[in-house]
Amino acid sequence: MDLNLKGKKALVFGSSQGIGKAVAKSLIGEGVDVCINGRTKDKVEKTAKEIGAKTYVVADLSEPGRGISATEKAITELGGLDIIIINTGGPQKNDFLDVTIEQWNTDFQSLWLSAVESLHIALPLMKEQNFGRILFVTSVAAKEPLQGLTTSNGLRAGLQGLAKSISNEYAANGITINLLLPGYTNTERIQNLNLSEEKIKSMVPAGRLAEPSELGDMATFLASPKAGYITGQSIALDGGVLHSH
Ligand SMILES: NC(=O)c1ccc[n+]([C@@H]2O[C@H](COP(=O)([O-])OP(=O)(O)OC[C@H]3O[C@@H](n4cnc5c(N)ncnc54)[C@H](OP(=O)(O)O)[C@@H]3O)[C@@H](O)[C@H]2O)c1
Repeated sequence: MDLNLKGKKALVFGSSQGIGKAVAKSLIGEGVDVCINGRTKDKVEKTAKEIGAKTYVVADLSEPGRGISATEKAITELGGLDIIIINTGGPQKNDFLDVTIEQWNTDFQSLWLSAVESLHIALPLMKEQNFGRILFVTSVAAKEPLQGLTTSNGLRAGLQGLAKSISNEYAANGITINLLLPGYTNTERIQNLNLSEEKIKSMVPAGRLAEPSELGDMATFLASPKAGYITGQSIALDGGVLHSH
């Protein structure tokens, strides 16, 4: 199937490694011009070279205003923007009373406001060109809270409401807005937890971790013109982890 993505322009946040990198790589494989992002210049530069990204923007999304400046830079360097993948590092694990107000503010900026900032720049442009694809990478925690991931559970559930709300507002403008909910995925983040095969089998009905490329390919399909009638959806890639949704 030809996804008709050749020549489209995409900004993929949080993409120097892990899921974001896999999404960027998959889009590049379909002929998309991609701008990648991360906080660490050396790492972003190395990944851009490795996967053949057109350009990159170094920005820490937990700092106010970075969603705006990063999106503006990507538009200038790519010469336009058709696709945005909203993604960043996962927030720290902490029970409710151990989460400081400072951490709430940092995580809110990083997971939420940076996305709003970016969309403030991108949506008028996408509306004018009557085409846009916006994809939030969140977590199964958006539907079933995971123990100790207090800020992630709260903020990500809210992002579903936000995405649904804007998806309705822009559905008639050729713009789709969806959410991808990863389950346990084989990235550096999970590898650091050293989960045994037995533990994984007990947690995941499919009996294995997801490969980042599986998320990358789903994201690429949703970013394509072929997926123009899918909007406002939360799509879990979790090997059956979610029980009731
Ligand atoms: N892996 C899983 O099993 C899993 C499951 C459910 C949900 N998720 C969610 O999916 C997202 C990606 O997960 P992952 O496993 O791919 O994580 P990862 O391997 O830690 O990669 C995160 C990427 O985001 C960048 N990043 C981190 N903080 C950033 C910030 N403040 N501003 C800009 N870039 C930032 C990192 O680069 P720098 O360090 O250079 O900034 C890196 O490129 C996370 O939000 C995570 O919570 C993951």
